[in-house]
Parts: sequence; structure tokens; C-alpha cells
Amino acid sequence: MSTNIVVLSGSPRKNGSTERLVQEFIAGAREAGKAVTEFRVADLKIAPCLGCGSCHQSGICVHEDDMPQILDALRSADALLFASPIYYWNVTAQLKTAIDRFYSSLRVNPMTVKRAALILTSGNAAPDTCEGAIITYKRICKHQNWEDAGIVAAQSLHAAAMLDGRAELEQARELGRKL
Ligand SMILES: Cc1cc2nc3c(=O)[nH]c(=O)nc-3n(C[C@H](O)[C@H](O)[C@H](O)COP(=O)(O)O)c2cc1C
Repeated sequence: MSTNIVVLSGSPRKNGSTERLVQEFIAGAREAGKAVTEFRVADLKIAPCLGCGSCHQSGICVHEDDMPQILDALRSADALLFASPIYYWNVTAQLKTAIDRFYSSLRVNPMTVKRAALILTSGNAAPDTCEGAIITYKRICKHQNWEDAGIVAAQSLHAAAMLDGRAELEQARELGRKL
């Protein structure tokens, strides 16, 4: 059976740098015979967690929104790619909001994910720009017992065209092949 990958893509910009790298990743994954489902979280209705804890009894969140689509996919996925531009030293609020909603699958009906990977883009070139997002990602992997299969961080970007000729395009494709 082929590897089943879920992509959570956190950029609100449809033709931006993050999406370009995500498309390379997906092309690499499909070349390697993997099945990929991409969710552009900014296009979905996903409400922030209220911390009410009722999902820990029922497995069902009190919000009625699009999050069950993602959680259902993660309950039959082998691997998960997070992708996001850096907004104020971390992933976008749209992606973090979806991640917080993983809470409802911690105790009841858990995810089947075994491996994860991360794609980041940033405007700034400073090496510590992506640090906050990478620390968050690595802590989540440890908490969920997911293997970290790799990180591609492409910096100094303000438009997708600025990726022309850059090594991160092939790195994203290779990440797709191996995840
Ligand atoms: C609200 C906002 C916050 C941002 N914060 C940062 C930041 O803290 N550090 C940085 O290097 N770039 C920052 N950027 C720039 C984006 O991370 C960068 O241009 C990214 O490549 C955009 O990805 P996209 O084309 O997928 O939208 C910010 C952009 C926006 C719109």
C-alpha cells in the first residue's frame, strides 16, 4: 500500500513562495508513488481551540467547522508535511490554529502519522528567523512520537519568482520523495 501523506499548507497567499515549494514537494511525493492530500488551511473555516476539554471525553470538538476533514485525513495518514511562511518568527496563525485543534485527537481516535517534515519561507535572511517555528515543530514531533524526516527553510523571499534557480526547489522535491 502506498504511503499516504497529508500536507497542511499555512500560507494565505495562493501563488506565493510557500505554495511553490509545496507543489515541488507534492510532485516529488507523487513521483515516488505516494498519495498526497493537501489542505490549504487559510481557505478553510477553522476556529481556535477554546480549551474546554470536552473533546478529551468525546473525541469531538464543540466547534462545527472544517477541522474534521483534516483530522479524518490524519487518522489514516502515514506522514504529515507542515508548510508555512514565517509570520513574526513563527508559523502563520492559520496553521497554528489548525495545530491546536489536534488536541481533540490526543486521547480519542488518534492520528496514524509516523513521520513529519517542515517547509518554511521567510523574508529575512537571518538564521534565527526560523528558530521559533523549528523549535515548535520539533517539540510537536517529540510529543506525538513522530520521526522528523527533514526541514527545508528558504529565506530572503518576498515573491515566488525569487525561488527561480534556488536549491530549495529540489530540496522540497527530494523531501517529498523521501517522506
Ligand atoms: C504578517 C507578516 C509577517 C511576517 N513576518 C516575518 C518575520 O517575522 N520574519 C521574516 O523573515 N519574514 C516575515 N514575513 C515575510 C514572509 O515570511 C515571506 O515573505 C514569505 O516568503 C511569504 O510567503 P508566501 O509567499 O507563501 O506568502 C512576514 C510577512 C507577513 C505578511
